[in-house]
Amino acid sequence: MAMVCLSDFEDYAKKYLPKIAWDFFAAGADDCSTRDENILAYKRIHFRPRMLRDVSMMDIRTKLLGTEISFPVGIAPTGFHQLAWPDGEKSTARAAKAMNICYIASTYSTCTLEEISAAAPNGLRWFQLYIHRNRAVSQQLVQQAEALGFQGLVLTADLPYTGRRRDDVRNGFRLPPHMKLKNLEGAFEVCKMSSLDPSVTWNDIYWLRRLTRLPIIIKGILTKEDAELAVKHGVQGIIVSNHGGRQLDGGPATIDALVEVVEAVQGRVEVYLDGGIRKGSDVLKALALGAKCVFIGRPALWGLAYKGEEGLQDVLRILQDEFRLSMALAGCPSISEIGRHLVQFSKL
Ligand code: FNR
Repeated sequence: MAMVCLSDFEDYAKKYLPKIAWDFFAAGADDCSTRDENILAYKRIHFRPRMLRDVSMMDIRTKLLGTEISFPVGIAPTGFHQLAWPDGEKSTARAAKAMNICYIASTYSTCTLEEISAAAPNGLRWFQLYIHRNRAVSQQLVQQAEALGFQGLVLTADLPYTGRRRDDVRNGFRLPPHMKLKNLEGAFEVCKMSSLDPSVTWNDIYWLRRLTRLPIIIKGILTKEDAELAVKHGVQGIIVSNHGGRQLDGGPATIDALVEVVEAVQGRVEVYLDGGIRKGSDVLKALALGAKCVFIGRPALWGLAYKGEEGLQDVLRILQDEFRLSMALAGCPSISEIGRHLVQFSKL
């Protein structure tokens, strides 16, 4: 099967993954309207391409909090990679390093943070944190991540409780017995997903700030009000995200929410986006609307399901090629030439 675009990997994953794993990866909350809207919204944005601008030399490199990456796409935190491929998050870390991009490892990884960092020792890795009721657990994870060379701490803000994903309820989804939430084992065995702390507030950013020197990036922001609070509380980055439509159903597409967040932030911190990125031209639209970088969730899992590390690299390479071509066809030879002038919202 020739893999030409990301949806080819989606078709493969749907065909070959066990149904319970496919359903878990694909799920959105309730009737999935926000999940689907994340993708549809890109169709309402059109380019205003410019011509005759010498695109013979393309430079698609950029920086993420000062660290150079080969193009502005990273891997969003998703749990349970062993459901897609036996080596799990180790393969993800290797693929991200090979492509010189950022991988955000989830609290709910099926490999330990040690295994992940050993798999890609000098790769750019951030650690995604869910705060547990037992704060000692979260503190230990943050400090371990810092000691292991993770370079950013991503606090996910949109999951005080898990959204209701109907197929997971129907399937009675749970991890197969041979897979474990490896970072919550041992002393922390009591830490089930239900032990997440729903009482977390903005003040907890100050608590995190005292625990670590790592830059703090907050994930799950959708409004200008929260963007302002994030800046006020001293974060270094904001990920505009609705958790791939898996949490509150009925919220905005992330590409739509990006506009008000970018406007509120006014360049004071870096703004990123995830949700619905399926093509290089989606990446270009997000950058035109002010994102510094975007992250992919499900497409990375499809790549893993296809061929582990190699399959994920295939996904990233396709996205990279598509992005470079879109930039060239829109008349932007480098990232710095991408701007708001490049897109318009259709009236529909
Ligand atoms: C997620 N997401 C997520 N986010 C997070 O902060 N921690 C996590 O452990 C997970 N786990 C997770 C599992 C699965 C199967 C999915 C699909 C998503 C959300 C993820 O980081 C990201 O916001 C979305 O996946 C982005 O949307 P796309 O790219 O999947 O459309």
